[in-house]
Amino acid sequence: MILVFGSNGQLGRELVRAAAAGNTALWALTRAETDIADAAAVAAALIRCKPDVVVNAAAYTNVDGAETNYADAQRGNELGPAVLAVACARAGIPMIHVSTDYVFDGSKEGTYRETDAVHPVNAYGRSKAAGEDAVRRALDHHIILRTAWVYSEFGKNFLKTILELAQTRDELRIVADQHGSPTSARELAAAILHIAPHVAADRRLCGTYHFTAEGKTTWYGFACCIVSTAAPITGRSPKMTPITTADYPTPARRPANSRLDCSLFVKTFDFAPRPWRECVQATARTLAMTSQTSEKDVT
Ligand SMILES: NC(=O)c1ccc[n+]([C@@H]2O[C@H](COP(=O)([O-])OP(=O)(O)OC[C@H]3O[C@@H](n4cnc5c(N)ncnc54)[C@H](OP(=O)(O)O)[C@@H]3O)[C@@H](O)[C@H]2O)c1
Repeated sequence: MILVFGSNGQLGRELVRAAAAGNTALWALTRAETDIADAAAVAAALIRCKPDVVVNAAAYTNVDGAETNYADAQRGNELGPAVLAVACARAGIPMIHVSTDYVFDGSKEGTYRETDAVHPVNAYGRSKAAGEDAVRRALDHHIILRTAWVYSEFGKNFLKTILELAQTRDELRIVADQHGSPTSARELAAAILHIAPHVAADRRLCGTYHFTAEGKTTWYGFACCIVSTAAPITGRSPKMTPITTADYPTPARRPANSRLDCSLFVKTFDFAPRPWRECVQATARTLAMTSQTSEKDVT
């Protein structure tokens, strides 16, 4: 049995969907059902569900919001994971904890490896790095899985925002000097469900790993792929203009390089990520078709 905390988020919902499709035993808890920072609630959930492995899909993910609301970021990204890790250690249960490329400062040439020093440049990254440390301290049998640029059919994300903007704007100006790998929550969920039974069965499987889609692009490249995929369905082709980070100031600084080296994950778990473009196209197509169908329903 896999127990997922934070099951109403992008990753949580894809874990639930994939487990149902693959007949995998999975118990999903939303924030309303269990707050990961509530030690009594977490302990009760572990007793009730008796999982073989815990997946922490819960997090405070508002990168700009964390700059002014560090208390909430810390609660979701440091205290919560610490509470989960302590409870798992007491119960002898391994945990797969999801983290982020934003623990790095983005100044490295090439891809980041698991052994590279973390140096977050924003409050969200600091809270996630602190969460990683808390998990490492409290629980030996942990997997910390760093990923990047996550999107899905659910919740709020870059892919959905671009599709919405393309419906109403004739020009989209998108940052072209930040590099990373757009990662489908669906693929991330598949990777987690693939490793979960191995992690549950083998105490030697622990440590930090990177998992993103294969290949790299920029936010501009990501947006162009979304728009060109949706255009034949929606009939909308706004002009795409590359801009720099300096042209688009945000409360939180973003790393210029978010590329993660995933070879350790691939080698250890024999699971290779799919190319980012293929996955983005699949989600963009699904969402564009859904929006066209619902528009027809309205008219
Ligand atoms: N999104 C990205 O681009 C990105 C990039 C790199 C890494 N990651 C990491 O990937 C993981 C999954 O991200 P995601 O995109 O699926 O996030 P998400 O869509 O924002 O979902 C996070 C979920 O966690 C829940 N949550 C927040 N605080 C909680 C608490 N104290 N107790 C229980 N649940 C809580 C939220 O509840 P509500 O629904 O009530 O808000 C939400 O359902 C996170 O660890 C994130 O840091 C994400």
